[in-house]
Amino acid sequence: MPPEDEATYAAQPAARHTSPVAGDPVDWDALRAKATELMRRAYAPYSRFPVGVAGLVDDGRVVTGCNVENAAYGVALCAECGMVSELVATGGGRLVAVSCVGLDGEPLMPCGRCRQLLWEHGGAQCLLLTPEGVLPMSEVLPQAFGPDNLWIAGGAPA
Ligand code: THU
Repeated sequence: MPPEDEATYAAQPAARHTSPVAGDPVDWDALRAKATELMRRAYAPYSRFPVGVAGLVDDGRVVTGCNVENAAYGVALCAECGMVSELVATGGGRLVAVSCVGLDGEPLMPCGRCRQLLWEHGGAQCLLLTPEGVLPMSEVLPQAFGPDNLWIAGGAPA
């Protein structure tokens, strides 16, 4: 993966992005195009399920990732793991908008573990392009466990 024949990837259909944010400034088409570009670089020979993701950072950077599988299946890295790694490695910051896509270039809902990653680095306000339009992370991961819970429980990162 990905298949050699680029034509097997569907062309991106016309945008139908509804957003809860008035005057949403995010260029969702560009973010999804970037995610689709990354999806084509995925290393997914076992599941044959390539995933790409692109995230807009609060300083204007765009960070990306694709899934990277392994012969030891459980070792597979989700696309979002790569994106978050790039985020931190290139200076950190907060994710403000994320687009995750599958083979057809259509929005893909991140798995539970990856929703947790997005929560850590984007929080409740971070927007995600979903099959149902743009949603805030507060709706994608309701009642999330996050850094605040550690403080409330009396623990704190060193
Ligand atoms: N995958 C991701 O990259 N992100 C997700 O949020 C869902 C799942 C990958 C992991 C695996 O390589 C493939 O999709 C099939 O589960």
